[in-house]
Amino acid sequence: AKVTYVDHTGAATQVDVAVGENVMRGALYNGIEGIIGECGGGLSCATCHCYVDPEWTVEAGGPSSEAEAELLESAAAEVRPSSRLSCQLVVTDALDGLVVHMPEHQF
Ligand code: FES
Repeated sequence: AKVTYVDHTGAATQVDVAVGENVMRGALYNGIEGIIGECGGGLSCATCHCYVDPEWTVEAGGPSSEAEAELLESAAAEVRPSSRLSCQLVVTDALDGLVVHMPEHQF
């Protein structure tokens, strides 16, 4: 599925991310800066924070778990209603064309 990552300057990069893979690893595997994913998707770092584009619902890919919502509060950048931890966003065919925006910093 195609996923577009937009950095804080507005520069967009579209890549192919395999269905079943998460949006954090999709960024890492494609050398996209702006998502760190320090804990490897273990839901303990919040350095994979992203904002789901307004064209998509923040619940794209399923609603956040309580653990995700709690950890999100410790994200370095401003937390908005569209905030998600990208390691919890699993790519499906229904998410083809997903656009996520990355904060300026993850620490
Ligand atoms: Fe650490 Fe997502 S990669 S919480």
